Amino acid sequence: MTAAPIGRYSCVPAAHTWAFSTSIHKAKPTSTIMVRMKTALLFLIPVALGAQALDFEVYRTKVEPIFLKKKPGHARCIVCHEGTRTALQLQALPEGQKAFTPEQSKKNYDSIVQRVVNKANPTQSALLMHPLAHEGGGDEFHSGGRQFETKNDPDWKTLAAWVGVK
Ligand code: HEC
Repeated sequence: MTAAPIGRYSCVPAAHTWAFSTSIHKAKPTSTIMVRMKTALLFLIPVALGAQALDFEVYRTKVEPIFLKKKPGHARCIVCHEGTRTALQLQALPEGQKAFTPEQSKKNYDSIVQRVVNKANPTQSALLMHPLAHEGGGDEFHSGGRQFETKNDPDWKTLAAWVGVK
């Protein structure tokens, strides 16, 4: 009979140690997983909002000059796409003004991202498919002609990289 209390006493601290140690062991992995999930969410949210890749500085310095550049045998994009006649809408560039002002660039950028970039499926963006020759993988017809014969055209590649084609 004297053995019973000893057994109980020796058992209680053992049970405590066990409960204590499991709570520690459990706490660590759970918090690590939570941190990982939060980190993953931070990366996923911008992707879901389509905020990735469409860098304004890249647009202003690399993409926009393409709309003003003369390609042999073609009119410049700006000639036909100034104003609101088509889906690609560029701000008016008065004679003598060689480049867009920062405010104009921002308006162009917003309009382009909204109207001719397909964020869910960048490859299908009108900005890429429409001016690209049909034989080169583009749309059937663009009133502005085959501005890019193939996807190897360096300017087409610049547009593609900007909209997020991998
Ligand atoms: C000679 C005039 C002209 C030139 C130059 C021109 N385009 Fe166009 N583009 C048009 C017209 C007109 C339309 C609307 C009718 C159509 O779809 O062909 C259009 C439509 C578009 C569209 C919108 C497609 C849609 O979803 O409605 C895009 C994008 C486009 N052009 C890109 C370009 C780019 C980029 C350039 C320069 C590399 C360019 N265009 C040069 C006349 C032109």
